[in-house]
Amino acid sequence: MLSVRDIANRELLDLVPYEPGKPVDDVARELGLDPGAIIKLASNENPLGPSPRAVEAMREALPKAHFYPDGGGFHLRNAIAQHFGLARENVVLGNGSNEIIELLFHTFTRPGIHEIVSARNAFAVYALMAQLFGVRVIEVPDADFTPDLPAMLRAITPQTRLIFLASPNNPTGTRVTNAALDEFLRALPSHVVAVLDEAYYEFLDDAPDTVARVRAGERVVLMRTFSKIQGLAGLRIGYGLASAEIADLLQRARQPFNANSIAQAGAIAGLADVEHQQRTKAITDEGRALLETSFAQMGLRYVPSAANFVLVHVGDGGEVFQRLMKKGIIVRSMVSYRLPEYIRVSVGTPEQNARFLAELPAALEGLVAFTRPGSAPIPRPLESALQEPEPAPGYAANSNPFTITRAITAYSPSASLAETQPLQPITPPDPGPTPEPPAEPAPDSHPAPEPYTPEPAPAPQPSPEPVQLSS
Ligand SMILES: Cc1ncc(COP(=O)(O)O)c(C=O)c1O
Repeated sequence: MLSVRDIANRELLDLVPYEPGKPVDDVARELGLDPGAIIKLASNENPLGPSPRAVEAMREALPKAHFYPDGGGFHLRNAIAQHFGLARENVVLGNGSNEIIELLFHTFTRPGIHEIVSARNAFAVYALMAQLFGVRVIEVPDADFTPDLPAMLRAITPQTRLIFLASPNNPTGTRVTNAALDEFLRALPSHVVAVLDEAYYEFLDDAPDTVARVRAGERVVLMRTFSKIQGLAGLRIGYGLASAEIADLLQRARQPFNANSIAQAGAIAGLADVEHQQRTKAITDEGRALLETSFAQMGLRYVPSAANFVLVHVGDGGEVFQRLMKKGIIVRSMVSYRLPEYIRVSVGTPEQNARFLAELPAALEGLVAFTRPGSAPIPRPLESALQEPEPAPGYAANSNPFTITRAITAYSPSASLAETQPLQPITPPDPGPTPEPPAEPAPDSHPAPEPYTPEPAPAPQPSPEPVQLSS
């Protein structure tokens, strides 16, 4: 008899679930701690909480919770459109912006045929979703943690349909410059949709006017969210902004009631609460500066961030995560992002930041990363992170010169936090239809692909001073 695994979707069997930040209640239960004494700096949430105006609007919406929500999201889409000088037809609501990622795969990819391109250290959900959809991921090395846009362009093949770029990116916190973004978008061939993940857009100084590109009908999809600057992560509400033509396609792929009525009410009020957003940006800027300065003073390397979190090298991220958790401080281990030497810490309130910084030295004791300024050399960064997995079996013949993988390492939910699962190789698709030729004629504005020669691994070098990973 066939097992259920035999009849299940093969892509799903290989999937390692996304590892979210550990919830406060879980930590309290597991360690017997008082939930009120625990601080969570693990999911880039808003330390000020939700906008009070959003809370009020949600309270008012509650008595009507027996009605299905407005599936068309008329009022919220109108409010968003008005906010950005767009039309309602340019706005697609999602159950978090994560759902917009899913809608993009439904709309533009076919299993075993199409590919997506992203940076190696990009947000994990692109690759997870690709695996679920049976779509290959071309990961382009980003050795300094900033997406290498020319290399991403060169990685595009006739099968590429989506290219993902988060700016600021999670987990690195890095952004691309406005000039680099302009050049990148100008060079994109017409068979590829640019997905600009702008979950942390509102934290940027000198943010690019990407909405103007939507207004101009360019082939871009902007993904934005109410989870971060608005402090409404628990509602699961995000949106995509795109040309009416693209938005119409995305709309066809969604569930009829994907944005619930409480979330729609809260989001409308949150969007209008400019003061709450400004306070959030101010507290974030201040807290991030404190974290970065303190890391530098401790002799820790960190990735300068443009978002509401910082990626910092601690030598053994899993161990530091555990030690801090025992003290009631939840940060994010980066093992599932294949950056086991790092933790990512979200900017909290001034009190939370101070408590984290006070506990950090003890959590680092005995680990290689913790070297007081001017003391022992710090190893070169990223050596372990840049170990490229073997090209997946079955794809070796692919002419694309980049490493092709959708491998994700993650803790298995039941495994001890000291263990990781091995890299999951890509499972080759079922021998099915032969790849389609590109829907569009060969890209004209795209530079001819050049063979990619990987950089030789940097030789370990002593570094007497704390090093910032990028500027
Ligand atoms: C870069 C990036 N994109 C998208 C999301 C998804 O956010 P949400 O689904 O809460 O809107 C996140 C969440 O952390 C993120 O970091």
